[in-house]
Amino acid sequence: MRALVTGASGFIGSNLVDRLLAEGAAVKCLVRRGSNLKWLKNLPVTLVTGDFHDVASLAPAVADAEVVFHVAGATRARNRAAFFRGNFEATRNLLLACEQYGPPDQKFVFISSLSAAGPSKGAPLTEEHEPNPVSAYGASKLAAEKAVLEFSQKRPVTIIRPPAVYGPRDRDTFLLLKSIHRGLHVIPGGPGQQVSLVHVHDLVTGILLAAASPRSQGRIYFISGEGHHDWRTIGAYAGRVLDKRFRTLHVPWWLMRLVALGGSLTSQFTATPTLMSLDKLKDMRQAQWLCSHARAQAEIGFQPSLDLLTGLAGAAAWYKAAGWLRPQIKKG
Ligand SMILES: NC(=O)c1ccc[n+]([C@@H]2O[C@H](COP(=O)([O-])OP(=O)(O)OC[C@H]3O[C@@H](n4cnc5c(N)ncnc54)[C@H](OP(=O)(O)O)[C@@H]3O)[C@@H](O)[C@H]2O)c1
Repeated sequence: MRALVTGASGFIGSNLVDRLLAEGAAVKCLVRRGSNLKWLKNLPVTLVTGDFHDVASLAPAVADAEVVFHVAGATRARNRAAFFRGNFEATRNLLLACEQYGPPDQKFVFISSLSAAGPSKGAPLTEEHEPNPVSAYGASKLAAEKAVLEFSQKRPVTIIRPPAVYGPRDRDTFLLLKSIHRGLHVIPGGPGQQVSLVHVHDLVTGILLAAASPRSQGRIYFISGEGHHDWRTIGAYAGRVLDKRFRTLHVPWWLMRLVALGGSLTSQFTATPTLMSLDKLKDMRQAQWLCSHARAQAEIGFQPSLDLLTGLAGAAAWYKAAGWLRPQIKKG
């Protein structure tokens, strides 16, 4: 397969690149000037520099790709307009480039998000639910999905909606493990929020199954791990894999709002928007983010292989081997 991966310098994109190479694909990576290429260094990939806001600059990237994996996306942004620029406009322009410069049978696989569908209430969401995003991030991913679905009149497309993704190279998983490694588990608000999760290796499996399946044309798939989890259980699992005892600190929502407000204000003056923002808080405050992978199982044969404990243990081992988690020196 000749594949193009956008967002290849990031967490999910780089894991996808590794798997594609392992399976013998010829891989091109679309990066931008200034992308940090640490995960792509020394790999047998072709790097192409392009700008999503200059359609012609994307021509060399899409020209001979059989499959375009559009993983790049703005997961944090200064404001609503910036989310729409990074997610909707970037996707629309990449689609334009595929139409103008790509081969006519090129497949387009778009990595969206559970945030585009919105939170669940009771049962896990299926792809049949009417989307109801609560954040600008989710709304911008939904707008991008609509552009991709319109494009399905012209080319084969598939949309993947992962819930929160964890695993090697992820900074959020790392922050959780680091905090527990130091003896503290910080939970925003109460313990109640329930979430679906997916290990990045299972997500990559789902993405590749969708790319290969003729049934996936014009379809949306939640690619998720089994079951659902609350933050207390996730913390307990992290403590087990690190063999650490820890205290749990619930941060009240008023304090989270203050932190988010600070983040949103700071982002107006910094080059990189902060992790925490008022928009992020909207997603965080929802009681449930659950989705079902039943459709992906039935149509493309997706089955997650890693339970949370095994996945976290592998991630912890990776952070230790990479020197991100260091052994703690006992005092006295
Ligand atoms: N991680 C999750 O839990 C999760 C869950 C659901 C969906 N997703 C989706 O999965 C995708 C990848 O997420 P991730 O966690 O891997 O994020 P990440 O580590 O932050 O990587 C994001 C990637 O997108 C690229 N990118 C962002 N804005 C860009 C722009 N304007 N032009 C060109 N490239 C741009 C980044 O390039 P640079 O290196 O140049 O910054 C980077 O390669 C995103 O679309 C996200 O919405 C993630």
